[in-house]
Formats: sequence, C-alpha cells, structure tokens
Amino acid sequence: MKLTNRLLEIANLITSRKIADIGTDHGYIPTYLLENNKIDFAILSDVNKGPLENARKEIRNKKLENKVNLRLGSGIDILEPFEVDEIIIAGMGGILISDIIENKKEVVKSAKKLILQPMQAQFELRKYLLNNNFEIIDEILVKEDFRIYEIIVAKYTEDKKEIVDEIYYEVGEKLIEKKDVLLNEFIDKKIYSYNNILNKIKDNDKMKEKVINIKNNIYKLQKLKIEV
Ligand SMILES: C[S@@+](CC[C@H](N)C(=O)[O-])C[C@H]1O[C@@H](n2cnc3c(N)ncnc32)[C@H](O)[C@@H]1O
Repeated sequence: MKLTNRLLEIANLITSRKIADIGTDHGYIPTYLLENNKIDFAILSDVNKGPLENARKEIRNKKLENKVNLRLGSGIDILEPFEVDEIIIAGMGGILISDIIENKKEVVKSAKKLILQPMQAQFELRKYLLNNNFEIIDEILVKEDFRIYEIIVAKYTEDKKEIVDEIYYEVGEKLIEKKDVLLNEFIDKKIYSYNNILNKIKDNDKMKEKVINIKNNIYKLQKLKIEV
C-alpha cells in the first residue's frame, strides 16, 4: 500500500511495537505499519461506526485481524493506561485533539509519546500542550499537494517549560531548531494570510489593536525566517 506523504510521515515517527490510532477512519497508518512489520499490535478506534467499518474492511483485506483491536468510542476513552506505547491522533482539529488528551490524562501520561497531526488550530494545540505539562519533542512539516501539514510529537513531563514568545505557538520551536526544509515556505504562507487579513480590515479605531498585533506577528515571522 502506498501512503500519502502526510500519512507516511506520521507512520515513520512510530518507534514502538504497540500503538493506537485514534480517529483511524480508513485505518491506513496501522495497516501500513503492520504490513511492513514496524509494529506488532494496533488498537484502531473511531467515534463513528462508518469510519470504523472502513478500517475493519482494510484490516480484513490485508488479513491482519489477529494483530488488531477495533474499538468504537470517543478519543482515548477506549484505552486503558499502558495498553499501548504510542498514540496517533491525526486529521482532526487542534482543539478536539487537546480535548481528547485532557479527557484521559492518565492514559496519555502512560504513553511514551503522542503523534498529533492537527488540521487546524495548531496554535491552540501547542498552547494547550506547553501549558499542561507536555513537552514537544519533535515537529515535522509535510507537503501534500499545495498544503503544508504540521505533525507534533509530544510526551508528558513533570517539568513545565515556559515559552518566551507566543509566536512559538504558531511556529513550533523544534521546526526552527531543526531548520525544517519547509520552514521558510511555511512562514511565507503565514505572512501571506496575515497580509490578506490586513488588506481586508478597515483602518478604524476599533481595529487598531488588531492591526498592531498582526503587524507585530508579521515582523516576528520575518525575523524567524532570517534566523533560519
Ligand atoms: C478526517 S478523519 C482522519 C482520519 C485519519 N486519522 C487521517 O489522519 O487521515 C477524522 C476521523 O476522526 C474521527 N473522530 C472525530 N472525532 C473523534 C473522537 N472524538 N474520537 C475518535 N474519533 C473521532 C472521525 O469519525 C473521522 O473518522
């Protein structure tokens, strides 16, 4: 099976033999990992019956039934502590991902790492993680068609780390540290959408603060680019 770039990069971040894929839908990531002998066992879950049936079909086609557990239910409610080592939550909004994590902290604490791929609200997800005792241990940008996706790897920690500037909720510090090859393009896209907002905002007193904030963010983003 050939995975898309986004799914392949998520799969490549798995380093343990027992995983869970929350909101699995088609089940492509765990199927790929099992077929390529990268894991021994996977729990596939989805809150909706239709997507879980998609995953069941995929697993049946590939004759992997004895290596998986399919569970219907919301988020990590379907897992017990230490059942798996790594948890994937991909293809959902960042706020939903943070709610899922918050709802079953004891399971999340027992996992070696979480591989998170928010479709939107990446700022809110990083903010949640870094203010709730999660360490962001890695980040990767992936391009598929014209979109750049953000993959965040996190784990629970006792040591809370303060961030020095909110801009790092928008552009993960790991991406800068690693000089991700897509970083400049990613930042340019952000600057472009901020400029679009600026062009649409009417320059009146009510909007003054918003305009200042956006201009400030553009300045910080440009600075990040120069540092790369
Ligand atoms: C867009 S699909 C993403 C599928 C796959 N993870 C991917 O990244 O391509 C989102 C899936 O998450 C499921 N989902 C939404 N909310 C959920 C929740 N609270 N718990 C588990 N699954 C959920 C949906 O039913 C859907 O199948």
